Amino acid sequence: MTSHIKDIRLAAAGEKRLKWAGLDMPVLNIIKAEFSRTKPFKGKRISACMHVTAETANLMLTLKAGGADITLVASNPLSTQDDIAATLVKNHGIKVMAVRGEDNKTYYEHLNQALKEKPQITMDDGADLISLLHNKYAADAKNILGSMEETTTGVIRLRALDAHGKLKLPVIAVNDAKTKNLFDNRYGTGQSTLDGIIRATDALIAGKNVVVAGYGWCGKGFAMRARGMGAKVIVTEVDEIKALEAAMDGFQVMTMDEASKIGDIFCTITGDMHVIVFNHFKNMKSGSVICNSGHFDVEIDIPALKKLATKVNYQVRNQVDEYIIGKKRIYLLAEGRLVNLAAAEGHPASVMDMSFATQALAAESVVSSKKRLDIKVHNVSEEIEKRVAGLKLK
Ligand code: ADE
Repeated sequence: MTSHIKDIRLAAAGEKRLKWAGLDMPVLNIIKAEFSRTKPFKGKRISACMHVTAETANLMLTLKAGGADITLVASNPLSTQDDIAATLVKNHGIKVMAVRGEDNKTYYEHLNQALKEKPQITMDDGADLISLLHNKYAADAKNILGSMEETTTGVIRLRALDAHGKLKLPVIAVNDAKTKNLFDNRYGTGQSTLDGIIRATDALIAGKNVVVAGYGWCGKGFAMRARGMGAKVIVTEVDEIKALEAAMDGFQVMTMDEASKIGDIFCTITGDMHVIVFNHFKNMKSGSVICNSGHFDVEIDIPALKKLATKVNYQVRNQVDEYIIGKKRIYLLAEGRLVNLAAAEGHPASVMDMSFATQALAAESVVSSKKRLDIKVHNVSEEIEKRVAGLKLK
């Protein structure tokens, strides 16, 4: 398979960013040095469907140091950092099929290629690769020793498959490790989502009514950081316990029907679909900014927004589309895709260090197991979690 990337000439710039991120990933670097000696993935093919970022590149180099033959494809059409893709191909001999802004057809062509490589290990961020495997390459599932899943939405999809007796291979829910979600989901999403909103709009956060839809770890992190910058934070949450938690954390809690009338900046982080819909757009004040930091671009009902709008001015600023609704203007960021990865660079390296150290050790546990793991969704072992947390603390 040949790589498909935007421009190989971006490699020099990408290499600088890859190295810069690596400086803030000490735990992963320790594991990389260990893998260089022990070669746990010697002779193994790994296909990874992940955000192609500087941090992911450091994970790929760690797996490669362990002897793996790697194919990397994007887990979102808008999150690819083309310079990083270029350096992985040019300077590190890793096959990459990912072009920022690729259309849906290309996105799936790349995923198909990743599976045609006949991997023995897969890694997913959102479960698109494993879903495709189940739908189209089910006969190959038996050859896969295990698959790692990086994000909440992906784990939900895989647990649903498992519950219906349809899961065909062992999966490790990396997302559910404490060394992942307590830090990456909370501090990573909290910071990178604000980063994306600010880079896209240059908005002042202080004094704004910021509406956060969803109070899982990601929503919690974003609410906390928005408050830290002086926003008046409103939380909408359908789960009573989480809503109560938000109230006791000192946030205003209300329905989106109410919040839509007073919000200045809206961010969906629920993992659910159609969280902001037709009536909410109708309620909104002129100048409202809407974005999403959940995995899929379905949380904001964009077709309804398009229907309501009399005109759309695309890219009035990088990553900002202006929807005209009568005398009102509403701004949608990053086409409703993950604002932190599309309008900023994703979570900082320091927190991805923990997520990807957990990924790397989970992958090692798959190959070091004496027999193939049972076909179910496994948790990351406590031993791995303790090791990652202990190293990070140091
Ligand atoms: N998910 C969120 N931030 C990320 C990053 N920087 N790299 C890879 N995946 C991410």
